[in-house]
Amino acid sequence: MLDVTEIRKDFPILHRQVNGQPLVYLDNAATSQTPRQVIDTIVDYYSRYNANIHRGVHTLSQEATDAYEQARIKIQKHFGAANTREIIMTSGTTEGINLVAQGFTGFLETGDEIWVSAMEHHSNIVPWQMLCERTGARLRVIPMNEEGVLVLEPFKEGLSDRTKLVFCNHVSNALGTVNPIEEIIQTAHSAGAAVLIDGAQAAPHMRADMQKLDVDFYTVSAHKLCGPTGAGALYGKEEWLKKLPPYQGGGEMISEVTFEKTTYAALPHKFEAGTPNICGGIAFGAALDYLNGIGMDQIAAYEAELLSYATESLLAIEGLKIYGQAARKTSVISFNLEGVHPYDVGTLLDKMGIAVRTGHHCAQPVMDFYKIPGTIRASFSFYNTREEVDRLAQGVEKARQMLS
Ligand code: ALA
Repeated sequence: MLDVTEIRKDFPILHRQVNGQPLVYLDNAATSQTPRQVIDTIVDYYSRYNANIHRGVHTLSQEATDAYEQARIKIQKHFGAANTREIIMTSGTTEGINLVAQGFTGFLETGDEIWVSAMEHHSNIVPWQMLCERTGARLRVIPMNEEGVLVLEPFKEGLSDRTKLVFCNHVSNALGTVNPIEEIIQTAHSAGAAVLIDGAQAAPHMRADMQKLDVDFYTVSAHKLCGPTGAGALYGKEEWLKKLPPYQGGGEMISEVTFEKTTYAALPHKFEAGTPNICGGIAFGAALDYLNGIGMDQIAAYEAELLSYATESLLAIEGLKIYGQAARKTSVISFNLEGVHPYDVGTLLDKMGIAVRTGHHCAQPVMDFYKIPGTIRASFSFYNTREEVDRLAQGVEKARQMLS
């Protein structure tokens, strides 16, 4: 078991007060907090070797380049990619998705089909709708049931040689459902379709191995992984990344430029135009070191226990309904109080120093499915405690009494 008391000492922010109360931070699915080790990495970068990478012969530039490329290796190893050519540094999951969606424009034609799941984040719906508008392809949806579990039969029956792409999140940000991506990947491949998995919400809770999954693309964000905002990575199978055209033009992504013709840099730089978030990438590597120092299996076991304790505590509250009751869930609980708007509960919780997210969580189709405007979402991390769950349950009960 984790020594959470020790772990919490690494996170300065967890010791602040909000509205006169000790902070209870339960909005980890939006952004995880940052340990001292990662903060130190950022301070060290700007204090000692802030420079542009891949460009200078001077020492600072070389140190920054080495640290940035070291981070890429850490990401490659953490996600089990075959080599660093398959790791594109991005600004986050959304950029990774858009890079792939843009790249497929020339590969699709009218009548081709793209499948997404019913529980996607808007970032995994809108880029594909835009791709459909550009190409005449048709968007189809893998449905879900009341428990918040995907129903795969219509997808399996609907596959054909027109199916070109399939997109699904590994874990739903709105419900916490762990989706059967292994089966989705195999099924899509049997129809010759490529698969992109949005790993933003899964990566903080479990290790995903790219080669074992045999997935074509997988995207993550550093800020869900104890790293900074504005950094992330896209894994792509080398054969796909070779085929896809560059996402953006600019410096860094070229081999040679003349006014007549430009040739592109080798992977992964072909997809990395312009000066990247150098410090963010390096800090992303430091965040993975931190998580691996604790151990992803230990994190998963601790969070599973916290989830079941929190589920039990919240269900004891009168009129509380949890959305998403899948057998396989990460530590996310989306809920509402009967007759009360989620925003009002969230506002009262904030007054008590408890941070949760309220609203549609950028997953409006999920809210439409349940015919609700939104939910209150508590998302737990390995640094949360049972005492914090108790504070949440007490806070929700108090809000219920005040609002109903
Ligand atoms: N996608 C993030 C969330 O679910 C921001 O909160």
